[in-house]
Amino acid sequence: MKLSTPHLLGIKDLQSHDIRLILDTARQFKEVLQRPIKKVPSLRDITIVNLFFENSTRTRISFELAERRLSADVLNFTAGASSVSKGETMLDTVNNILSMKVDMVVLRHSASGAPHFLAKHISAAIVNAGDGINEHPTQALLDAFSIEDATGGLEGKKIAIVGDIMHSRVALSNIYLLTKMGAEVTVVGPPTLIPKYLAEAFNVRVSYNIKETLEWCDVANVLRIQLERQNQPLFSSLREYNLAYGISRKLLDGLSKKIVIMHPGPINRGVELDSDVADGHESIILQQVENGVAVRMAVLYLLADRGEAGN
Ligand code: CP
Repeated sequence: MKLSTPHLLGIKDLQSHDIRLILDTARQFKEVLQRPIKKVPSLRDITIVNLFFENSTRTRISFELAERRLSADVLNFTAGASSVSKGETMLDTVNNILSMKVDMVVLRHSASGAPHFLAKHISAAIVNAGDGINEHPTQALLDAFSIEDATGGLEGKKIAIVGDIMHSRVALSNIYLLTKMGAEVTVVGPPTLIPKYLAEAFNVRVSYNIKETLEWCDVANVLRIQLERQNQPLFSSLREYNLAYGISRKLLDGLSKKIVIMHPGPINRGVELDSDVADGHESIILQQVENGVAVRMAVLYLLADRGEAGN
């Protein structure tokens, strides 16, 4: 089986069979990562550059680890320490790197559409590691993988996406993925943080009632409040946000059933999630991070179009 696309620019472009292929391949790589020797030679002759024009902890380390586990040669590029600070464009930067015989580009950029622009101008395979407020496809894939682990599947599952939907690339990629795979999605948060067009444009429910939505769902994926992307205040204070929409122990203990709590990280503790929830028994946040390596191995491996996973 092959992916129907030469790049991973977003979940929007994937067919449901592509998503299934990535998740099934990731499951094989997760088995590899349990072995004493966690490395396979699959991408031995491939060189990958991680181009990060925006800060990252999880995604960057996870991609680098995935590349090294697949035996790829790895180059790391940080915009702040490069000739971008002297005025070089992203396209010139990438073309210079590619002229050194680099095969794949993993790109994080603060501009929505940056990887799509690059894909029109270069021949190397591109993986979107997060572009502005557009998409973060590997995060949605690792979230889906983690939901399958925690609940047994995606089809028919009730997933709540909580909080700052407006500024979240994780929300958009999750909405595309979960609705393509037959899950039911409700987005919940303050009206100022949920785009007006959402319910019309996507097959999702919109709610402003956190307790009712948590009572409805099997899984709550709680998003970071992205203050750095807000040009003007969209709620009066972080304290008020926490009181109205933060996930607290009291809120979870008041539900009639146990639900799964997810968060893509980084967490604003005491804002969208209280610490005793982030570290509590419902939380699979660190499992999400662990699963990210296997999922990114699957994406890189399938884009490189190699033989059999796990060998
Ligand atoms: N989830 C996520 O993208 O985290 P980083 O910004 O640390 O990569």
